[in-house]
Amino acid sequence: MKPVHYYLLTGIFALPAIISCNGSNAKNSVNNNLKNSVNMKFEKVALPYATDALEPVISRQTVELHYGKHHQAYAENLNRLTAGTKFENAELETVVKESDGAIFNNAGQVLNHNLYFTSFGKNGGGEPKGKLADAIREQFGSFEKFKEEFNAAGVSLFGSGWVWLAKDKDGKLSILKEGNAGNPLTSGLTPILGFDVWEHSYYLDYQNRRADHLKELWKIIDWEAVGARY
Ligand SMILES: [Fe+2]
Repeated sequence: MKPVHYYLLTGIFALPAIISCNGSNAKNSVNNNLKNSVNMKFEKVALPYATDALEPVISRQTVELHYGKHHQAYAENLNRLTAGTKFENAELETVVKESDGAIFNNAGQVLNHNLYFTSFGKNGGGEPKGKLADAIREQFGSFEKFKEEFNAAGVSLFGSGWVWLAKDKDGKLSILKEGNAGNPLTSGLTPILGFDVWEHSYYLDYQNRRADHLKELWKIIDWEAVGARY
């Protein structure tokens, strides 16, 4: 059995989790492998940092609930829902692109949270470098203008969902607002960076102040991991 489905998606998505692994993640991987042996064919990505590493931007309590409970539930639901279906042995990205209803909702959320949790790091922040930085500057005018537009999209998204930076096959960037479990993959685009605007991602730390939460998230972005997706 393959250890972690997510790592099979694309090399660029898998890399951030692998290069950031530490002792606690090794333990996490062992746990994941144990779960896989009992039919966890779809598994969430290992957290590439300690649960308190993102404080004060995201508290340990939020990471424990968000990663440990919400993300876990999406993965468990997906395994249960796909058992015995044509998606049982499919790759996660394929399930997201080809399913609908409850399977899509849970597959989308597993993929979205895999990307989300591997976009941050203890020593994150600053600005992107290299090709992604050049593309952002070219298309949005500056990194500051891009952040403003991205934050505005997140604030104005009604209800639960995600704001994404995505690229098309030519490398052109765009900002997308997706409700619920939406992911740019379903529009033929590649997700680069996604902010979760479901209340479960920020309510314990910021209550109803979504805008404040989105502004703070830039302080913990692991641009090496995110830039590798471009
Ligand atoms: Fe979430």
